[in-house]
Amino acid sequence: MTSKIAVIGTGYVGLTTGACFAHLGHDVICADIVPEKIDRLRNGDVPIHEAGLTELVQEGLDTGRLSFVLGAEHAVGEAEFIYLCVPTPQSADGSADLSYLQSAAAEISPHLQPGAIVVNKSTVPVGSTRLVEQAMRRSDIPVVSNPEFLREGTAVDDFLNPDRVVIGADDQAAAGRVAALYLGVRAPVMVTDPASAETCKYAANAFLATKLSFTNAIAAVCEAVGADVNDVLLGMGYDHRIGHEFLRPGPGWGGSCFPKDSRAIISIAEDAGYDFALMRGVVTVNDEQFDRIVRKVGSVVPLEGATIALLGLAFKAGTDDTRESPALAVARRLVAAGATVRGYDPAVTEVDVDGLEVVDDAYAACDGANALVIATEWDDFKWLDLDKIADAMADKHIVDARNLLDRGAVKRRGFTYQGVGRS
Ligand code: UDX
Repeated sequence: MTSKIAVIGTGYVGLTTGACFAHLGHDVICADIVPEKIDRLRNGDVPIHEAGLTELVQEGLDTGRLSFVLGAEHAVGEAEFIYLCVPTPQSADGSADLSYLQSAAAEISPHLQPGAIVVNKSTVPVGSTRLVEQAMRRSDIPVVSNPEFLREGTAVDDFLNPDRVVIGADDQAAAGRVAALYLGVRAPVMVTDPASAETCKYAANAFLATKLSFTNAIAAVCEAVGADVNDVLLGMGYDHRIGHEFLRPGPGWGGSCFPKDSRAIISIAEDAGYDFALMRGVVTVNDEQFDRIVRKVGSVVPLEGATIALLGLAFKAGTDDTRESPALAVARRLVAAGATVRGYDPAVTEVDVDGLEVVDDAYAACDGANALVIATEWDDFKWLDLDKIADAMADKHIVDARNLLDRGAVKRRGFTYQGVGRS
């Protein structure tokens, strides 16, 4: 069954949602407020790095099922479903800034046809479904929560092959109609009330962040007692209640979601009278992890005046996104301690960090460096020519913050090696 869908906001969530719904057979119009973005998208030029997305956008343009317009009010007139996918950045106090969401809702409201359903896909604090209802001032239009669980880099696959679809609505008929949009997708669809759907999104991200901080904390314990974290985690992960996924130690977690959502759930809980001490600890452990990586570098080379090669700038492999990247958190600390940092990333060509120079080759980053830090788990770094790196560097020290390298091969070439939770 084909439905008419408008998607407001063409960021990575909105564009993925629009292109995937078009792929599932719906008629989709995506709106944004940036004219250049719309022009580019109309030509099939996708401004974000997302596997399979360019192909799906092109497919939608070719079949005529996907189109792009400037301004939300031009997208919604005939729409049966309006997906709100606008940004909800973090305000100064840690809470989510809902001004984009409210103004989008107010803007589209007069243009909606009777029977339309507004769907919130942006990650929003509990109660925001109500806020959108209020901003719209239309009691005849149901507002439904349908949170996204998309990872950057695999967003298309996550949309088309999700673990679940969560729908939060007071109006059961509206929930049923939103559920029907996903008929082409094989996944459990659960319907609940809006507050539970909204909380579910935060709880899932907060739990995953907790799993990662726990992993990094166990790595610290392993370092203290002389255990090897990779083996410890393997032994833990075989327990099916724990599982092997999301147990890779690293320089800390980052990206556009975990830091923002972790702080937001602390703030949501606080506003509701609950001190989420566990989550505060999770965030603290993450901040400490950046410091721990810097201390590892400082343990082998005086940071004042040192040159440090930093391989990896993106917050994880497979993306060019540096938002809240652990690599940059480490770089800032190194610079603050008096070091010069030379960074390289296969997908990132510039960053705005004083004292961090971005070069276009891994070996150039190592040239004359006193230590090398691996900060992002790009496969390319596994296959670096260690002899060439040894020749390029002034001192042979490696801090492998992703446990990516073959430590035997590194040590055989005379480097000192420090991983995370293993030496
Ligand atoms: C995350 C959630 O996974 C997704 O469901 C949600 O909708 C948005 O936030 P994303 O931000 O794309 O997705 O990144 P993700 O792959 O989850 O990684 C987040 C951070 O954790 C990265 O910095 C990554 O390097 C780190 N990480 C992840 C680890 O350090 N170890 C792991 O085992 C997994």
